[in-house]
Amino acid sequence: MSEPVLRAIGVRRVYGDGTAAVTALDGVDLDLHPGEFVVLRGRSGAGKSTLLAILSGLDAPTAGRVELNGRPVADADAVRRGRVASVFQSFALIPVLSASENVEVPLRVRRVRPDERRRRVAEALAAVGLAGHALQRPAELSGGQQQRVGIARAIVGRPSVLLADEPTGQLDSETGRSVVDLLVRLVHERSMSALVATHDPSVAERADRVVEIRDGRLVHHR
Ligand SMILES: Nc1ncnc2c1ncn2[C@@H]1O[C@H](COP(=O)(O)OP(=O)(O)OP(=O)(O)O)[C@@H](O)[C@H]1O
Ligand SMILES: [Mg+2]
Repeated sequence: MSEPVLRAIGVRRVYGDGTAAVTALDGVDLDLHPGEFVVLRGRSGAGKSTLLAILSGLDAPTAGRVELNGRPVADADAVRRGRVASVFQSFALIPVLSASENVEVPLRVRRVRPDERRRRVAEALAAVGLAGHALQRPAELSGGQQQRVGIARAIVGRPSVLLADEPTGQLDSETGRSVVDLLVRLVHERSMSALVATHDPSVAERADRVVEIRDGRLVHHR
């Protein structure tokens, strides 16, 4: 098999200290390979969001480490350079910006040239089927369309890893299915690796692999 893109090695995360300490992750090992759509399961409070935050570099492990292409993920560095992108349950779009302006944000952060930004934003919106909705603000889009904008914003920087926390949690089941179809297609077409935390069994059905956090450790299902 190919080399892993993203690796968690003995990742431990303890919140608080003393008698109030909560061990959310207790030695998690995980390899994500290119082109893989992996579902992350676990009961509420199991540590799914904690693991995603650590993999994205937004939170640091108490012990253990995360490697991106064999190199340590330093703080939010990988995120800034667009190698790891996230999709959120609540979409996390900026209300006063249009769909295309929302998708453009990560490229502005990275100081991509305006003509290049325009080209890539148009390509990302087309990839999620929203070419005709570029000028609408989030409030003028359906929930499913808003999540498609969230996905376009995630892929516009051509990340190698896509992390998603309950991406269908705020969508009805049919809209959720179409969003998952889109994610699966993009991951396979672009050889990204995706880790998607979800309680939704219909998402797990589409996975190449399912892993579950239980008692702070990862159980590998298939
Ligand atoms: N900032 C924090 N401070 C203290 N404890 C926290 C913090 N964030 C999470 N926890 C605790 O860590 C554990 C894991 O939480 P996490 O949010 O990762 O679970 P989850 O699997 O995403 O749950 P859900 O399915 O409900 O989203 C829980 O026991 C939670 O209470
Ligand atoms: Mg969570």
